[in-house]
Amino acid sequence: MLDQPIGVIDSGVGGLTVAKEIMRQLPKENIIYLGDTKRCPYGPRDRKEVLSFTWEMTNYLLSRHHIKMLVIACNTATAIALEDISQAVGIPVIGVVQHGARAAIKVTENQRIGVIGTENTIRSGAYEKALLSLNGDLTVENVACPMFVPFVESGKFLDETADEIVRASLYPLRDSSIDTLILGCTHYPILKEPIQRYMGERVNIISSGDETAREVSTILSYNGLLNKSALSPEHQFFTTGDRERFKKIANDWFGYDVKNVNSITIEKTAVKEY
Ligand code: DGL
Repeated sequence: MLDQPIGVIDSGVGGLTVAKEIMRQLPKENIIYLGDTKRCPYGPRDRKEVLSFTWEMTNYLLSRHHIKMLVIACNTATAIALEDISQAVGIPVIGVVQHGARAAIKVTENQRIGVIGTENTIRSGAYEKALLSLNGDLTVENVACPMFVPFVESGKFLDETADEIVRASLYPLRDSSIDTLILGCTHYPILKEPIQRYMGERVNIISSGDETAREVSTILSYNGLLNKSALSPEHQFFTTGDRERFKKIANDWFGYDVKNVNSITIEKTAVKEY
């Protein structure tokens, strides 16, 4: 049981930002990553569709890989499916929204926080609710950035177009007085540098990955599930889309040649009305 993997899911490559942090903080754990790249982005999709897709990824990892814990490393899927899935499966499940909110509250000085995310995440108000439940005096400014996810998934995010896309998306926040900006989508840390350049050094940029990884560690330890094996971990990566494109982005993000990358098909799951 203890050496069973932790499952990490996302609509595409974005959850790799969370997986990298989990690997750094928990170097003995085996990680199984599944990105639903073929159906990415989830951001503009119907809620029911996002719920079904998230269940399909969950069922795949539960039935084939017997994961001991699930991390929904996608804000959109967290906002829509976390409650449903965590109540139904018999393993610990965490999402990313709550942890990003907590990290932002720790660093803001003027109590003004910006949140950027997909249309679905922003429309759900999940961050605003999480932030205000922790501190009702905050001012929260929300902006949806629908161009970011397709851009990151294209794999061309290292060229200078990144600055143009960031400028076109973040202009509503440029002159606001926020001192903290939550990257409310796990794809966005890949654009952290151009985002920081545009917003300026006075704005703290928060990605929920670090905080989420800390929570994974706490939950595994609390449940007596930490891997004690002396063997080096073996991570596996699955994508429902193009293997080579996924691998190239993973290699760029991790900074080494990522092994065990496979392209798979996942089965359709019927879900109840949402
Ligand atoms: N990484 C997902 C998130 O955190 C991506 C969104 C998408 O597929 O649109 O929301």
